[in-house]
Amino acid sequence: MASPFLSSPSGLVCDGVSVADIARAVGTPAYIYSAARLRAAYRAIDDAFAGYPHRVHYAMKANSTLAIVRLLKDLGSCADANSGGEVQVALRAGFAPDDVVFTGVGKSRDELARAIASGVGIINAESPGEIDRIAEIAVGLGCEARVALRVNPDIDARTNAKISTGLKTNKFGVALDDARAIYRERLGRPGLRFTGVHIHIGSQITSLEPLVRASEVLVDLALALQADGVPLEHVDLGGGLGISYDGRDIISPADYALAVLPALRRCGLPVVLEPGRSIVAHAGALVARVVDTKQFPDGRRFAVLDAGMGELVRPAMYGSFHRIVPVTPRPGPELPWDLVGPICESSDVFGTDRPMPPIEVDDLVAILDAGAYGSVMASNYLRHTLSPEVLVDGGAWTVIRRRQTFDEMLALEA
Ligand code: LLP
Repeated sequence: MASPFLSSPSGLVCDGVSVADIARAVGTPAYIYSAARLRAAYRAIDDAFAGYPHRVHYAMKANSTLAIVRLLKDLGSCADANSGGEVQVALRAGFAPDDVVFTGVGKSRDELARAIASGVGIINAESPGEIDRIAEIAVGLGCEARVALRVNPDIDARTNAKISTGLKTNKFGVALDDARAIYRERLGRPGLRFTGVHIHIGSQITSLEPLVRASEVLVDLALALQADGVPLEHVDLGGGLGISYDGRDIISPADYALAVLPALRRCGLPVVLEPGRSIVAHAGALVARVVDTKQFPDGRRFAVLDAGMGELVRPAMYGSFHRIVPVTPRPGPELPWDLVGPICESSDVFGTDRPMPPIEVDDLVAILDAGAYGSVMASNYLRHTLSPEVLVDGGAWTVIRRRQTFDEMLALEA
């Protein structure tokens, strides 16, 4: 499945709606999302696992704007929240607490207490200490918390080191070898009900082999725990399925399902999936305006945009590649351009040596596949106000988050 942003004789369109028209109305920078693309991506994952008991818990960390979360809820998705704040967003979006999984490597007592009191479906615990705190809080509240322990299988997800989470050098989960003892020692403890096992080895994973190995480790452990008398109700495979940022072919949700289902069938337990990026990335673009152009004596051409690492940090932070396209291409030869942000840091670059038609000040460009880990990671760096977000649906568009005002940004300050 490709980007919903396509060039047309009238310029770039998102599901038939002119991107230039939206940018004119809401200003730039702005995030634009395709509802149709979100729905298709959700269905692709849901359909891929159709023959096996499963629940898709959309990983809200990829994009937790209320309208996006609600759209996924309306499709039948459940939610994966990675912080107390995300649990609250899930509840405000209308999810039943039972449909929320609460994950995260560092949950404060306060976050745990609120989550347990609100009745979240499952807490994915990251350490024996956290399980003990969960039990203590649940007993204090007179209830029982449903818990799955996250195991760290020491599997190389073969992705960017900054988003690899399944190696023993990473901070996540507990060592696989310790897992059985941790369950055994706490079985039957008041306040606790162990319902599952959890694994998540990284993000933007583009090879099947690590995902298959993770599924095997997860199922082997689940079978061992069942033999130990742990009454498991599910296994949680985490998220991590990658997308194609450069347009080349990549593993699909169907490939992923085919690869992990043999292991899952060995235990037969319902599987929880936590996809984030693969649901929202392609649906979104960041639209920016060119504020300056210049050429150096060595021939290097720069187009400086009004969006930078404060709006989309992925290229600066991970060296990530995003395609960049002109919204209304000018006639003329394509030449290599560096498309950069306005921030005084050399990492504030969206793309180098990109073949682009002639670019002039005030032109618009769209940075594609920015629906995941785009707006959620934005900041007020350089006192930029947070960008608006627009959802295109059925030929019409609505502002789902308006631009932050300068006064709103300053309102917190003495
Ligand atoms: N479950 C857990 C426990 C996670 O930590 C994550 C993401 C997911 C699910 C969703 O993974 P996904 O399907 O989106 O790969 N900011 C980085 C990505 C960080 C992902 C962290 N964990 C980026 O922009 O590439």
